[in-house]
This record gives sequence, C-alpha cells and structure tokens, in this order.
Amino acid sequence: MYDKEVVKKAQAIHAEIYGTEATAVSYAPGRIEVLGNHTDYNAGTTFSCAINMGHCFCISKSDKPGIRLTAGDIKETAEFDPTNNDRLEKKFQWANYVKGVFFYLREYGVEVDGVDCTFLGSIPMGAGLSSSAALEVATAFAALSYAGKELDKNTIGILAQKSENNFAGCNCGLLDQFSSIYGVHHGLIHSDFRTLETYPVKLPDDVVFLMINPHIKHALADSPYNARRISCEKAAAELNALVDYDVSALRDIKFEDFDALKGKIDPEAAQRATHVVGEIYRVEEGVKLLAEGKLPAFGQFLFDSHETSRTAFENSCDELDIVVEAARSAGALGARLSGGGWGGSVVALVHAADAETICDKIIQLCKEKDLEPTAEIIVPSQGAQIIK
Ligand code: GLA
Repeated sequence: MYDKEVVKKAQAIHAEIYGTEATAVSYAPGRIEVLGNHTDYNAGTTFSCAINMGHCFCISKSDKPGIRLTAGDIKETAEFDPTNNDRLEKKFQWANYVKGVFFYLREYGVEVDGVDCTFLGSIPMGAGLSSSAALEVATAFAALSYAGKELDKNTIGILAQKSENNFAGCNCGLLDQFSSIYGVHHGLIHSDFRTLETYPVKLPDDVVFLMINPHIKHALADSPYNARRISCEKAAAELNALVDYDVSALRDIKFEDFDALKGKIDPEAAQRATHVVGEIYRVEEGVKLLAEGKLPAFGQFLFDSHETSRTAFENSCDELDIVVEAARSAGALGARLSGGGWGGSVVALVHAADAETICDKIIQLCKEKDLEPTAEIIVPSQGAQIIK
C-alpha cells in the first residue's frame, strides 16, 4: 500500500519535464515518532510508524553526464555532479538530501550518473513527519532499481542518514530513515539503535493515532538539535567516569544509577539526559504495556514524554504544549510532540471510535487559544518500496 496519487502525479510530471517515461520509480513514507524522543543517537530504542504520506522518486536515462533533479511541486530543476560532495547553493538546498544519497551510494558500488530525476511528496513540509528522510530513502530505492543492484535495508538507512548529516547539516540519528524503510501496515516499529534491529509490533485494532499540526515553521538544522546531541554525549562521558561499567551512550546507564548520579555531572547535561533516560525506560516498559493491552498506561507515557520534553529537554514550544493540553482535555489516551521538536506536530493516541470527535474538540480548544491546527487520522503504513 502506498500513496498512489502522488506516484501517478510524479510520473506525469517527470514525463512532462523530460519528455520520457521514468524507468525506475520508488515510494517512501514519512513517519510519526510515538515514543523514544532523542533516544536514537543515544543507542536507545523507539516506537514509531510509517505514515500514509510519502515521496515518490522517478529516474530515466539522460544523454549527458550529471544528474538533473526536478522538485515536482515547484517544477524547479537543479543539476549536480554525484561524484563530488560539494553542497548545492541555498536556492537548491532541497536537492542536497538527494545529492548526498547518490554520492554515498557510490561507496557501495552503486554508481548512478547521467540521469534525469523527479520527486514529489505528499508529506507537509516542516510538520515534523520526516519528509527529508522519506526523500532520501525514496532516492536510494529508485537509484538501486535503476542500477539493478541491491543493498540491505540497514545500509540504505545508514547512507541516507549520512546524507542528512553531511549534506543537510543535521546530526540526526537513524529513527526517521528506519521508520520509512521498515514501516508495517497498522503496526508500530520497535527499533533498537544499538543492535540496529527492528521489530514490528501489532497495534490493537481499536486505536488510531492523530497527527495534529499547529503549522509552525520547523528546520532541525537551524535548531538546537545538534547542541542537544552534544549535551547527551557529555552526560554519557561524565557518567561513564562514575560507574564501574561501560557507558558509551546514555542507553547504558542504569535507571537507578542515573537517579543517584545525575547531581554529580554537568547540570545542563544532566537535565537533557533526564529526558532521554526516561524515554529509554518508557519504551522498554511500553513494549510490555502494549503486549498486555494496557493502553491507558501506554498513553500516559506519551503525556509523560511530552512533560520532560517541555521541562528537561526543552524541545517543545507554546503551540505544541497547547495542542497536547487540548488533546488531554479532549479525551486522548496520550499525546506528545513527535520528532525533533521546536515545532512540528503532536501525535495523539485515541480510541478509533472517538477519533473524529476528539479531532474536532482539539481544534475547537486550540481555536480558543488562537491556534488553528489541522488534525488527521494517521494510517500506519508499509515502508519504502520499488514501484518499478
Ligand atoms: C529527528 C531526527 C531523529 C530523532 C528525532 C528525535 O526526527 O531526525 O533522528 O533524533 O528527531 O527523536
């Protein structure tokens, strides 16, 4: 299952711009992060799901070297050489995510050059739904199809992440790329970023997620994201010196040791780590709660997660707090910011039968606070695929 509409449109735009049909076409979805905020680059664990919106990427052969890339929505075309790692000028910033993927694929013997490409997405930009990771993953799948080569899924995720790190400037973890690759229909993905294993987790039939977007501008590369990552690494290094086991990442510190030792490390690093260590604990407990069908307790973890985002990690903002409170008042089982933070969307867990009513109520409550969010029901969807 994929967004057929966007795939059809992307192929039509490709044919219109280049005068030929695409021979390789892929689709990769965006994601919502359900629990496990900022745990991925701390070797932690997460719950996420791929969503029913994504990017389509089309490729056909051209008669000259280099890569021509058209952004289907604005119909602008960038050109680049995939063999060098120069970033494109600001006007074509969107092309850097794609260039990085073509560049890193070469390290694995997938050398695509002399092609025309088009991409089109249905993921709203800046909504915190990982439109950039979906674009990177879609690029990799289409390039592999074009080259007639295969790479294992983890490698695709890692090279897409390298593109984001080095061509877009955000030192993100692997959550977004893994979610786009490993998505399952009506299921969550439980990822372990130490072992790089992912497990599909069935969602109870009677719950759905809402995605509420207050439409605040969001760009992780300009946010304190990279600074937070440094604080987490600092906390891990200082904790490592205080315990008699190896703490190479925050994942390793025992919950009770963190509680006892957090007062002895750099206060800012301790404050940021409080959120991450709590998230790692909540994901571990959350696995059991889901297995036992204890949805209200699982939902409460989402509220708890948002609370330490707000107070300790400080990656929330007034608009997201208003939406989370509105979701609580409207009867959601849980709600929290989803993804990097400092903007983006709120994810809420609700009983399917109440979804429409809760959506309307959240919007109404937000309006009373001068916010005009949009809200929709998310369909957890299958991960990236080659269409042809
Ligand atoms: C962004 C990053 C991910 C992850 C989340 C926060 O989405 O791209 O790697 O760190 O933020 O959990």
